[in-house]
Amino acid sequence: MAPAIISDLETPPAVDVAPPAGPGLFSLQGKTVAITGGARGLGITLATAVVEARGAVACLDILQTPSAEEWAALTKLAVAQGTTVSYTRCDVTDEVAVQQVMDSIALSAEAAGAPFWGTIACAGIQQQLPALEYPAADFNRILSVNVTGVFNTCKAAARVLTAAKRPGSIVIISSMSGNIANRGLSCTAYNSSKAAVQQMCRSVAQEWGQYGIRVNTLSPGYIRTAMTDQLLVENPEVEKTWMAGALLGRLGVPADFKAPAVFLLSEGASFVHGSDLRVDGGHCASA
Ligand SMILES: NC(=O)c1ccc[n+]([C@@H]2O[C@H](COP(=O)([O-])OP(=O)(O)OC[C@H]3O[C@@H](n4cnc5c(N)ncnc54)[C@H](O)[C@@H]3O)[C@@H](O)[C@H]2O)c1
Repeated sequence: MAPAIISDLETPPAVDVAPPAGPGLFSLQGKTVAITGGARGLGITLATAVVEARGAVACLDILQTPSAEEWAALTKLAVAQGTTVSYTRCDVTDEVAVQQVMDSIALSAEAAGAPFWGTIACAGIQQQLPALEYPAADFNRILSVNVTGVFNTCKAAARVLTAAKRPGSIVIISSMSGNIANRGLSCTAYNSSKAAVQQMCRSVAQEWGQYGIRVNTLSPGYIRTAMTDQLLVENPEVEKTWMAGALLGRLGVPADFKAPAVFLLSEGASFVHGSDLRVDGGHCASA
C-alpha cells in the first residue's frame, strides 16, 4: 500500500480555543471539579486550591467524613469565594458508584451554574513489602485502587463531559515513583501503579483529545502526609535518604502542589495534554 501523504489525512476538528488572556488564564470560576481522595492529605489541599481559584469542588473519598478541621476551613473559604464544596463517600474501585456520583455532581453543578469541568484523581494507597514476599492479593489491592480506581474516575468524568459535549481537564496524581524506584523503600506494587497511570494518561489523551478533554499527570516527590508519615514510622532512617536528594533542602508539603494542579486544570494550560508534570523539589534531577 502506498504511504499516506499529508493531504490524504483527515484534518482533526478544532476542539479548543486559544487560552483566555489576563487573570482568566488560571481562573476556575464557573467550573466544578471532582476530587477523589478529597477527605484529607493532598486531596483536600488541592480542593482548597480549586476554591482559591474560584472553582466549585466536589470531594469523594472512601472515608465516612473528611478531616474535620480542614473541611471547616474549606467550607468557610468557599463561602468567602462565592462558590461551593460538597462531600460524598465513594469507593473509587466501585465502577458503578463512581459513575453515579459523577453524574449526580454534574447535575448539581449544572443547576448551580458552574458546569462540571473535570477531575483530580488523587485517591491512592501505599504499601511496603519486599518484592520476594509480596502476595498477589495485596499487589492486586494496590492496583485496584491506584490504577483501576483512577481509570474509573477518569472514565466517569470523561463520560459526563462527552455526554454534555463540553471540553474539560483531568489531572491524575501519579508520583515520581512512576519513573524511579525510591532508595530504601520496598514498594513494588505502588511504584508499578504510578507508572501505569502515566501510561494510562497518554492512552486516554490519545482517545479524548478529540473531545477537548485534556488529560495530564502530576507527579509529586516526597510530601509529608498521613501516607508518608506511616512509611517513616516503619523506616525512620529513610528520611535521611530522602533528605540527601532534597535539592531545595526540604521535603514537599501539600501546598507545593496547589499551583501546579490549578495550572493543569485551567484554560491557561489549553495546549498541555498527555504530559507528566513532575514536582519533586529537584529530587529526580540528581543521582
Ligand atoms: N505523600 C506523598 O509523598 C506522595 C508522593 C507522591 C504521590 N502521592 C500521591 O498523592 C495522592 C494522595 O496521597 P496522600 O499522601 O494525600 O495520602 P492520604 O492517605 O493522606 O490520602 C489518600 C486518600 O485517598 C483515599 N482513598 C484510599 N482508597 C480509596 C478508595 N478506594 N476510594 C476512595 N478514596 C480512597 C483515602 O481515604 C485518603 O483520604 C495518592 O495518589 C498518592 O499516591 C503522595
